[in-house]
Amino acid sequence: MTSSNGIHSETDAGRRGTTGDVASASEPDRSTVAVGACVARRFASAEEAARDAANVLLRGPLVAHAYAGGLDSQLRERIMVAVSQVNACGGCTRVHRRWALRAGVSSAELEALRTGDLEHLDPRSRAAVSYAVARAERRFEGPASPGTEKSASKHLSVRELKEVDAIARAMALANLSLNTLAARRPPSRTGAAQHPVFARVWSHISGKVGSDKQRSELLAGLRGRVLEVGAGDGRNFAHYPPEVSEVLAVEPEPYLRCLASGAARAAPVPVTVVDGTAELLPREDGVFDSVVSSLVLCSVVDQQIALAELHRVLMPGGELRFYEHVIAERTLGKAVQAGLDGSGIWPHLGAGCHLARDTLGTIAAAGFTVERVRRFTSGPGPLGLPFVLGTARRKSAHREALGAAT
Ligand SMILES: C[S@@+](CC[C@H](N)C(=O)[O-])C[C@H]1O[C@@H](n2cnc3c(N)ncnc32)[C@H](O)[C@@H]1O
Repeated sequence: MTSSNGIHSETDAGRRGTTGDVASASEPDRSTVAVGACVARRFASAEEAARDAANVLLRGPLVAHAYAGGLDSQLRERIMVAVSQVNACGGCTRVHRRWALRAGVSSAELEALRTGDLEHLDPRSRAAVSYAVARAERRFEGPASPGTEKSASKHLSVRELKEVDAIARAMALANLSLNTLAARRPPSRTGAAQHPVFARVWSHISGKVGSDKQRSELLAGLRGRVLEVGAGDGRNFAHYPPEVSEVLAVEPEPYLRCLASGAARAAPVPVTVVDGTAELLPREDGVFDSVVSSLVLCSVVDQQIALAELHRVLMPGGELRFYEHVIAERTLGKAVQAGLDGSGIWPHLGAGCHLARDTLGTIAAAGFTVERVRRFTSGPGPLGLPFVLGTARRKSAHREALGAAT
């Protein structure tokens, strides 16, 4: 059984055991743990932060001893990575993954920690990580479950258990502090802000707005290296054909990015999810066979800059696959769309979405040849929203289009 934030229950762990075999009831060593929440944990109040800081300070000697050889560095870093994932502190996870590699933790073990499937860890590490994660999930109030406690005391001494608890508390203090500070940061320079309400709504309706049929049509025939911009909750990932060797999925919204990371784990092809925006793609020129934009160009801050970036990262002759809603062809429809955009109502509800953009025209003006396009509407009669779904091919050197447009 898996809860909504990816926590596998004890029952599930018990069934799977540590090597995929059925585990005995007397050996409830958890082989799966929480893989990390989609919502970054923060302090609810200054008092809470002060209480946690005091608790860590009280355990200062244990933390110091854990770092002075009490716990070996690999075990320590496995715990730090796992706890930072529970609190969804991306910065801490990145730093401790690096430190873990330096300490000799293998990539397979890091992957096991990322997915929460701990089969690749030795029994002692598995017991310690499960214990630390269970304590962190409970914010260090009350004991971990009896099975987790029992397994931890079987593999670790009393002193070691205290040190595991102390370093997990220190990690959690750093995680929640950073997450609390990050929440106060202004939106990024590119204009991509957090849209927590939209993100949660979108995660419920993404399958209805963009059907499986349309998503399969969008991605059919792709091969090689693909960049997907504004990947949302990763709804497209299941539809990539096996000829695709890797997908780099760029998503600026933290909650959606976290859901996309979950979808990436279940995808039929390798998918890496990263933070970023269409206006500043985190890759060098000409490295992708194809780029994919589905329901994104309505929301980017600047379509011309975004398309120039998509053009830049595509290799010559590479494809842009698009699935976008666009401005209506009829006067009445256009007027309604322009009114909703101009009033600010629609962009406000849709996290920057615009109804009246001539996206197909902008694609054609950005150095692409539109090779195939299917037009259709979705919704009731004259109020139906017009969509375009198709393929455009990169035709000229990068930045030409942007240079001409500015
Ligand atoms: C309507 S959702 C579509 C999500 C996904 N592509 C799909 O088909 O389900 C729009 C997505 O674009 C993302 N987005 C908004 N502005 C962006 C930008 N400047 N760069 C990249 N993505 C952006 C949003 O965070 C959101 O995930």
